[in-house]
Parts: sequence; structure tokens; C-alpha cells
Amino acid sequence: MIPTLEWLPTGINFLDQTKLPLEETYVLATDYKQVATVIRDMIVRGAPAIGVSGAMGVAIGIERSAATSLPELTEEVAVICEHLAATRPTAVNLFWGIDAVRGVFNELAAKGASIPEIKAAVVTKARQMYDEDIAACKQMGANGASLLPQEGTVLTHCNAGALATCGYGSALGVIRAAIEQGHKIDVFADETRPFLQGARLTAWELMKDGIPTTVLCDNMAASLMLQGRIQAVIVGADRIAANGDVANKIGTYGVAILAKEHGIPFYVAAPWSTVDVATAHGGLIPIEQRAALEVTHSNGKQMTPDGVGIENPAFDVTPAKYVTAIITERGVLTAPYSASIQTMAGMTELAVA
Ligand code: MRU
Repeated sequence: MIPTLEWLPTGINFLDQTKLPLEETYVLATDYKQVATVIRDMIVRGAPAIGVSGAMGVAIGIERSAATSLPELTEEVAVICEHLAATRPTAVNLFWGIDAVRGVFNELAAKGASIPEIKAAVVTKARQMYDEDIAACKQMGANGASLLPQEGTVLTHCNAGALATCGYGSALGVIRAAIEQGHKIDVFADETRPFLQGARLTAWELMKDGIPTTVLCDNMAASLMLQGRIQAVIVGADRIAANGDVANKIGTYGVAILAKEHGIPFYVAAPWSTVDVATAHGGLIPIEQRAALEVTHSNGKQMTPDGVGIENPAFDVTPAKYVTAIITERGVLTAPYSASIQTMAGMTELAVA
């Protein structure tokens, strides 16, 4: 299994995804500020991996705190959580991860637990979330594999694989599971401008597993769909609103429209931690704007004229009407999503804007 991130006695070790596929190197974060930098700079990326990194960031911040009293530590925890939460706004998993570890802290602090007890408990929680993320990916694979064709080519966008999770992957996990069950699947990986998660990361991790993979430029899918060369699309998600609208890597919306036009199923695979029942619809999801440099430059080389205007939204929102099904570890959701998500959440009332 690809070691995306790992809790070690010395710190949290991250596979440096900015260096892939040419270099397989690691970055060791020894405090919460370094974890925040690792998330912001996309050394680790992908919603589930960001979520567990956020959880581990809070845990390492508490574990390494020099605070000598509970009030002092409580103040510090607020600062740690705020710092980590300010890294990337779109993947709701980040806030879920931070809140989960903070919840353990709050509970133990309210009971008057000792600082060493609290430190041990938050680390245990973060490490448990790591294990649960891998288990969720495996379950998504089991739940979604039969949706993929027995034989054919599946298009994916960005990287929703082992690298975007703690292991196995969400969308790529479903592909892996289908192959493990005997499906004969080839993968088309959109290159995914500007950060090239498809060309660099999806291609790298699928080739490591011997899964036949072909990289497409982002403008090629329409023509290949028209030629009947794509049988299904599967992507991950950064946040799924209560009505089933899906925020994912920029370009996903276009792929979803193309799939609908060509009668191709469009699947989303995401752990339940990506479902944000507190956000009523996709229009309310904050979309991260990243630096112009990611667009103006490629591999350090300037590609655009000085001073030209640049847009760099990192994500877009695919309206629920384009989504054939959402595969989670709890089960497969289908339209009408407001109802199916509500049922799966075990909720009685949906949040409204
Ligand atoms: O900017 P990134 O690389 O963090 O974006 C990642 C994606 O958009 C993934 O598709 C999404 O997080 C799902 S990962 C299982």
C-alpha cells in the first residue's frame, strides 16, 4: 500500500506529492505549523488525506505542547485548530478531522483529565481515523465495484486514489475492487490542469498496481466519448452538499455534462466524511482560489505573457442532476439525493441555507 502519510514517533511522515512521479521523497512534519504548510502546499492533498492530516495536525500540536495547565492548553488548542483550518477551504474533511480530535480534547478536558492522558487520547484518535479511512475506502470499493463495466474503459479526473486517502483510494479504490473481482478495466486519466494530479499521480499509482492507464489531456474526453471509447466515469469529491451537488477538482463539471450528453454513467465515490449535510446546496460551498503561478508556469517555466489575467479556482461544483450515483462506505446513494442523503445520515431535518 502506498504510504501517503504515516504517524511515526518522530512526527508525521508525508509522501511529497509535489515531487511525484519523478522523485519518491518524504517530508517529516514535527509540529502542527509544519502540518499546515504540508496541507497548504499540497505535499499531501485529496479530501480524505487532508482530513486525517488535519486530525493528526491537531494531535501533534497537543502532544508536543509545553502547556502546564488545562486552561493554557485549551487556549493553545484553539490556536492550533484555527491555524490548520485556514489552510484549504473546500474539502469539508479537513474541518471534520480537526473537529473530531478537538472533540476528544474537549470531552477529556471537561472531565478534568490530566494533560498526559489527553495527549495519549488525541494521538490514539488521530491514528484510529487513519485506520478507519483505509477501511472506508475498502468498503467503498466493495459497494461500488459492481457499478463499473465488466469490461471497458473508465475515465477519472484528478486523483482520488491511494494518494488522496490514507490508502486504496475512493474512486480508484472502486476501480481496484472491480479489477480484484475480475472486471477487465482500462483507465483514462485526465491530466487535470494546472496541478496535473491525473498525469502525475493517478498515472503513477495505477501503473504501480499494473492497471492499464492512459493519460488524456483535459480537452480529449468529449471526442473519445463520441467514439464510444469510455464506458463510465468515476471521480472523488471534496464536499457533497445536502442536495447531492458535488464539489470536486476543477473540470469535473465539464466531464459530468459530457457524460450525460453521451449517455455514460457518472459516479462519485467519497467517504461519508465528505458529505456536508450542513451545506444545503453546492452554491454555498467555498471554492479555493489558488496562486496564479500554478497556471502561468509549468515545471518552473513561464507559459503565459507577463501581466495576463489568470483564473485559478481549484474546484467546481457538479449539480446533482448529472450524478448517476454516489458511492460511500455506508452504501450507494441515488437521486433524489436530498432524500437519500437525509436517510443515510439518519437525520429528520435537512439544514437550510
Ligand atoms: O486539490 P486537490 O488535489 O486536493 O484535489 C483533490 C480532488 O479534487 C479529489 O478528487 C478529491 O479530493 C477526492 S480525493 C478521494
